[in-house]
Amino acid sequence: LKPKVFVTRRVPEDGINLLRQKCEVTQWDRDEAIPRHEILNGVKGVDGLFCLLTDKIDEEVLSTAGENLRVVGTMSVGYDHVDLSACRKRGIPVGYTPDVLTSATAELTMALLLTVSRRIQEGVTAVKDGSWGTWAPLWLCGQGLEGATVGVVGLGRIGFAVAQRLKPFGVSKILYTGQSEKASSAQLPAEYVTFDKLLNDSDFVIGCCALNSKTTGLFNADTFKKMKKNAIFINTSRGGLVNQDDLYTALKNGDILAAGLDVTSPEPLPTSHPLLTLENCVVLPHIGSATLKARNAMSELCARNIVAALYGEPIPCQVK
Ligand code: GLV
Ligand code: GLV
Repeated sequence: LKPKVFVTRRVPEDGINLLRQKCEVTQWDRDEAIPRHEILNGVKGVDGLFCLLTDKIDEEVLSTAGENLRVVGTMSVGYDHVDLSACRKRGIPVGYTPDVLTSATAELTMALLLTVSRRIQEGVTAVKDGSWGTWAPLWLCGQGLEGATVGVVGLGRIGFAVAQRLKPFGVSKILYTGQSEKASSAQLPAEYVTFDKLLNDSDFVIGCCALNSKTTGLFNADTFKKMKKNAIFINTSRGGLVNQDDLYTALKNGDILAAGLDVTSPEPLPTSHPLLTLENCVVLPHIGSATLKARNAMSELCARNIVAALYGEPIPCQVK
């Protein structure tokens, strides 16, 4: 008898095909997020759960699944939607998908940073709505990366990849802060400083750290005030890092120059949200890892994690 796995969404075939070879798969085979009651229904009696960052995996889901559940695999690098201590208590390992999305997410971070700094959203809008009057010396002037100081908050895999991609743009300095200083080496693209110094010195501040109890609301009125008036704030991690009301006020009052967010809280951000009324704020729909290559690899790695756990083999990528 093959182990049973429930998959909470339509996901790239690579992962599903792999699962099907070794498991009996049931799936919420749609592009819309699965409603809560359908998750609770789908997990009953399964051995493995393949989920996404849009699914809250908590004690209720685990207890509804029951005794058979032996692994939770999330098709994401972030796992703030999974109650790790509830999983730990039940001895259920959690698989996730780091590395395979690092380049894609770092690229999107660069794209968003350049979009905001060079005012691309305003430019595209002006071309379409006819407000482009003429080439004008002072119109839509932005901030270049050349010579800039960039602060990366969280120099993990993605933060590191962002720092590497910043170098060729001729930035003068890359600063980072995080849980701890990395062992220094010639390869390290950035210099460790305190959070306050990073805020104080950076022309660009990029949020690349995981969301947890220490980083929730890390970017708030106080932190925005410590940033330069010409600072550009980018977040491609999780919306929960940011107090969005405070960000709105900072952007409105000119405490900082502009912001680019690939992640918000909630997602989707309601279309009536005040941040969407600001010209100096670009909001994207959480597409950091959205290349076919990355998404296929995430789906496959998530499936490999689940299969390994169910067959008693070492899990390729397990949350520690
Ligand atoms: C995307 O945000 C992820 O965590 O994979
Ligand atoms: C996540 O932030 C990572 O660094 O992979």
